[in-house]
Amino acid sequence: MAKEHWRQKQSLDKYFLESKAKGFRSRSAFKLQEIDQKLKLFSSNISILDLGSTPGGWSQYISKKNHKKLNIIATDINVMTKINGVSFFQGDFTEKSTQETLINMNKNNRFNVILSDISPNKSGNKITDQYIFYDLISNILEFSKIALINEGKIVIKVFHGLGFEDFTNDCRKIFETVKFFKPKACRTDSKETYMIAKNIRYNSKNE
Ligand SMILES: C[S@@+](CC[C@H](N)C(=O)[O-])C[C@H]1O[C@@H](n2cnc3c(N)ncnc32)[C@H](O)[C@@H]1O
Repeated sequence: MAKEHWRQKQSLDKYFLESKAKGFRSRSAFKLQEIDQKLKLFSSNISILDLGSTPGGWSQYISKKNHKKLNIIATDINVMTKINGVSFFQGDFTEKSTQETLINMNKNNRFNVILSDISPNKSGNKITDQYIFYDLISNILEFSKIALINEGKIVIKVFHGLGFEDFTNDCRKIFETVKFFKPKACRTDSKETYMIAKNIRYNSKNE
């Protein structure tokens, strides 16, 4: 899409305008809001990991619930400007050292909720991009086996197309419940949707 056309489309977008009005750094905040309204993700005194957090719309949305005494840890390969109540680590999630740091930041405890809105930069080759994407989020699934509590919830952005079915099958091996939800705030022409899974199967922790 030509840059000018994209800008025009963005400035007419109701979620874009609402995010500006409400001070959210991204229109993505409304996707998390819809998911949360549907699933009630954030009970009191829990720890949450926000993967691919920059520029910070999701972390801002969660931090507004800080009366619930939430422990919010966010990470991104790119820097994120400070948000009160959110501890941020800049790193590549695929690196083991980043994953270890995130667990250390949670005082070596497992998280109650893991969120991923990660999407890597596009190379221009759709097939390569899908491979890179599913490789990355498969990493998140593996990580969840050691970093999420048994009754925990995980929300991962996924894209329909190559890799989607295999990934869904992998999720079903690990989690008892796997569902999909496409918030209204997702662009209609986008192939993105959100996989929401909960309750780790006993066996997958012993693999
Ligand atoms: C769509 S944006 C996330 C928007 C964010 N949820 C918000 O509400 O503002 C996707 C993010 O994934 C990050 N990302 C891509 N690859 C990554 C990786 N390997 N490790 C960590 N973050 C990554 C990008 O830097 C980008 O900021």
